[in-house]
Amino acid sequence: MIFVCAGFAGCTSPQSALDPAGTEAETVATLFWVMLVGAILIWLAVIGLSVFATRIRPKAYGETAGLRLIVWGGCVFPVVVLTALLVWGLQMMPPMRAEANGPTIAVSGERFWWRVAYGVEGEPGVSKTLPEGGTPSANEIWLPAGQRTELLLGSPDVIHSLWVPSIAGKMDAIPGRVNRLVVEPTKPGVYNGVCAEFCGDAHAQMALRVVVVPADEYEAYVARQGAPASVETGNAGFRAFMQNGCDACHAVRGTGAAGEVGPDLTHLASRRTIAAATLPMSRDNLAEFIGFTHRVKPGVQMPSYGMLAEEEIAAIAGWLETLQ
Ligand code: CUA
Repeated sequence: MIFVCAGFAGCTSPQSALDPAGTEAETVATLFWVMLVGAILIWLAVIGLSVFATRIRPKAYGETAGLRLIVWGGCVFPVVVLTALLVWGLQMMPPMRAEANGPTIAVSGERFWWRVAYGVEGEPGVSKTLPEGGTPSANEIWLPAGQRTELLLGSPDVIHSLWVPSIAGKMDAIPGRVNRLVVEPTKPGVYNGVCAEFCGDAHAQMALRVVVVPADEYEAYVARQGAPASVETGNAGFRAFMQNGCDACHAVRGTGAAGEVGPDLTHLASRRTIAAATLPMSRDNLAEFIGFTHRVKPGVQMPSYGMLAEEEIAAIAGWLETLQ
């Protein structure tokens, strides 16, 4: 009983397929409960019959009883049940594959973070990679509630898998091709997502947040993310950011930092977390990540900047925190 209670304690959370906040997740949850109840009923029937046949009336059967049990219990019953489940499962699929009627967002799984681009347009090119353009962000995906948003998934390195259990099922992000996942979140809120395909050392720290908001709020958010940074560039923090080559990998639109290897930091401080949802966003955590990068997130591609003076790291973290 304790195990059952412990198991179900995880059902109500921002990362539970059994606490759905999206149309696809609701289908998955329904499927789970029907399968669970069905399996329990069949298990009880099998145990009941076993007890009846061996303990209660062991001598009550004629010579053909065994054959009848095999035909009806071993052939007819499974065929009927499995056919019913197959038909029921198949009729669930078309709604889950329905066309999008909302925005298109490109999501690229990269070791070990999520590159996000809002408002990309058109079909993927002949190269079969994600379409170019859009408003860049990282590790946090905003979605409009009540709309069917199309996520185009790709990867430049290895196979990753996007899984936001409260919203929808998993979809792989595979190098050299574009996978399509249409999601329809129904309840505004903040949900947790993870990388669900082992992709290297920091696989377990390749998470993300999904923020579901009303449609007008979504539009305003994307517009804010599309604007260049309005930030001081005459201070020690920005100088240290540029002098230490942070701009080789990171872009801060509007400042001259235009790296494309790592996450776009233009509105970094507007996100809830840093380092792909490894730490909550705060100045202290930014400093910690810059100074002890590989202690915070072993295996991450970013080099550690522990050789910098503490004041210099603090200045960079302080400047990054102003990137609202
Ligand atoms: Cu990316 Cu696991």
